[in-house]
Amino acid sequence: MAGDKRRSRYNRDMEPQQQDLLWRIYHRPVPPEAWTDDGNLPWNDVDFSIRMLREHLDEAHGAASRVSAERALQLDWLWDALRLQRDQTVADITCGPGLYAVELARRGCRVTGIDFAPAALAYAEEAAREQGVTARCTFIEADVRQMSLPPASCDAALILYGQLAVMRPQEAAALLAATARALRPGGRLLIELLNPEGVDRGKSSWWYTDDRGLWGNAPFLHLGERYWDEDQECSIERYQIIHLESGKMDLIHLCDQVYRPERITRMLHEAGFASVTVHPGWDGLPLYDADEWIVYVATRGPSEDAQ
Ligand SMILES: C[S@@+](CC[C@H](N)C(=O)[O-])C[C@H]1O[C@@H](n2cnc3c(N)ncnc32)[C@H](O)[C@@H]1O
Repeated sequence: MAGDKRRSRYNRDMEPQQQDLLWRIYHRPVPPEAWTDDGNLPWNDVDFSIRMLREHLDEAHGAASRVSAERALQLDWLWDALRLQRDQTVADITCGPGLYAVELARRGCRVTGIDFAPAALAYAEEAAREQGVTARCTFIEADVRQMSLPPASCDAALILYGQLAVMRPQEAAALLAATARALRPGGRLLIELLNPEGVDRGKSSWWYTDDRGLWGNAPFLHLGERYWDEDQECSIERYQIIHLESGKMDLIHLCDQVYRPERITRMLHEAGFASVTVHPGWDGLPLYDADEWIVYVATRGPSEDAQ
């Protein structure tokens, strides 16, 4: 029997728990399937969100949020692209620690930031207090896939840093429709998505150890793999993180849906947006990774068009 065969392969010098863990790794599905789970990082886990906040605020890299000098450039650019003015209302969808939201409030907008990472939102609220813009900021802790902002309540909306792509395409379509409903006719949505031309379609794997970091505050071993699903046009990263002190393992999949400009433009039209402009590489803004991104600015059609 398979079970007996497996048991007979236990090494007497190895704890059964360790051996089980290694067999789980060995038996992982190869390749992993896209969207078998949420396909996203555990942003809404309290401890993970505390650790991730360190990454957002780390000015040495832009992996979680762009560094402040780049954000300033982006904010000037999007202020013009969205034709923002003082007293307008902006929804920052997946706002993280509010680094854009609070700055837009400082520039005179009323901002609603929605995110499900508790530590990031606590930071955003504190930053709004420090900047004296609490009255112009509302932060909502929610999964944006269940977002329901009042109809026609916003002049503009943002979905930055590729976050529309870390949800299933049908969830992304529903979020676009919900955003269109929340915008006034003529309101604008800015979406930043990976440029399909630059996406790594290769297969790779890596590992590293650390004493503390994003994955925990005690020694861990991170085993990472990357796959490309050609049919679904989706990259899948799988992280198996073994916490050395407890012997427990976290399994995380990060799916990133790739959208070609034609597809996202079609989705925006279906959601109720009348026109879409396409801005590869942030129109040449000197961001360290600008070439990897395309920005779309969509204008909400007349009210009867919104689904
Ligand atoms: C890469 S960070 C970017 C945050 C912010 N836009 C910035 O650039 O500083 C992605 C953010 O999206 C949030 N997020 C991802 N999926 C979400 C969901 N389904 N609902 C709410 N927030 C989500 C995460 O919690 C995280 O704060």
